[in-house]
Amino acid sequence: MEVNSASALFDLSGKIAILTGACGLLGQEHAHVLAEAGANVVLADLQLEKSQSFAQDITNQWGVEAFPVEVNVSDKTSVERMVQRVREKFGQIDILINNAALTVKGGSEQVKGYFSDFEDYPLDIWQQALDVNLTGTFLCSQAVGKQMVQQNSGIIINISSTYGVVAPDQRIYENVRSPYDPTITFNTPASYSVTKGAIISLTRYLATYWAGKNIRVNALTPGGVYDDHGEEFVKNYSYRTPMGRMANKTEYRGAILFLASEASSYMTGANLIADGGWTAW
Ligand SMILES: NC(=O)c1ccc[n+]([C@@H]2O[C@H](COP(=O)([O-])OP(=O)(O)OC[C@H]3O[C@@H](n4cnc5c(N)ncnc54)[C@H](O)[C@@H]3O)[C@@H](O)[C@H]2O)c1
Repeated sequence: MEVNSASALFDLSGKIAILTGACGLLGQEHAHVLAEAGANVVLADLQLEKSQSFAQDITNQWGVEAFPVEVNVSDKTSVERMVQRVREKFGQIDILINNAALTVKGGSEQVKGYFSDFEDYPLDIWQQALDVNLTGTFLCSQAVGKQMVQQNSGIIINISSTYGVVAPDQRIYENVRSPYDPTITFNTPASYSVTKGAIISLTRYLATYWAGKNIRVNALTPGGVYDDHGEEFVKNYSYRTPMGRMANKTEYRGAILFLASEASSYMTGANLIADGGWTAW
């Protein structure tokens, strides 16, 4: 199908989009832009109550159907149940955004070793990150991909990170305390980088694997988003970024809409980097 006008390129009217991690900082932004473009959005998250009230907001604001579904992306049965419910309700799945990730925000009680030094990194937390970030992307792509193969169409967007492309610059974390709990210093653990790097590889693999099935698979690599990190960290991160600042949470809406729509119709297996220039030097 050839689409020419600018508005038609970005029109998602009637599309069904599954968005994992929909209740998080960026998930909510992705949900808003998909809904504004006309898509019905499946708000898939561990947090059911939050996704239920968020679904109300989306429907009230954009007039599309927003379907809250509780899912644990690292659990095969839970993912298959989610896909089954979406199939029963809508009969098709046009877009999947693998956005859920194990990110740790909170005090030392919630964090429980997530920011440990590499030398002493707890195996169970390493494993948990792999389960959610990487295996979760695998399981959702597998279950949704089966439906997309049947339809002979689909779009998958996998959310990576600059830390999946380059290593964290450890200097920006030196002596920086968590804004949630001054008793802990924070950093980006190896499990995050490793899973985000692997997501780019899985994206390329699936793009070529399903190229003949009319399924496009791309990655989006966002840079750090301002989220009350504390003054010292924001200063360090901003200095290290060519554009001199962290991203605002709204600044990936355009990239999501581009990848989810006909605007990116000749793109698959790519990694779209929107990082204020972080990886440019
Ligand atoms: N925020 C940033 O600065 C930033 C930068 C680069 C990349 N990213 C990536 O963007 C994505 C979203 O980040 P965010 O900042 O919005 O994170 P967030 O922590 O605000 O939200 C994550 C969401 O995922 C959900 N979730 C966690 N584990 C889950 C599971 N097992 N099953 C289902 N849902 C689960 C949580 O309930 C939460 O709603 C992540 O993939 C993250 O790695 C974020």
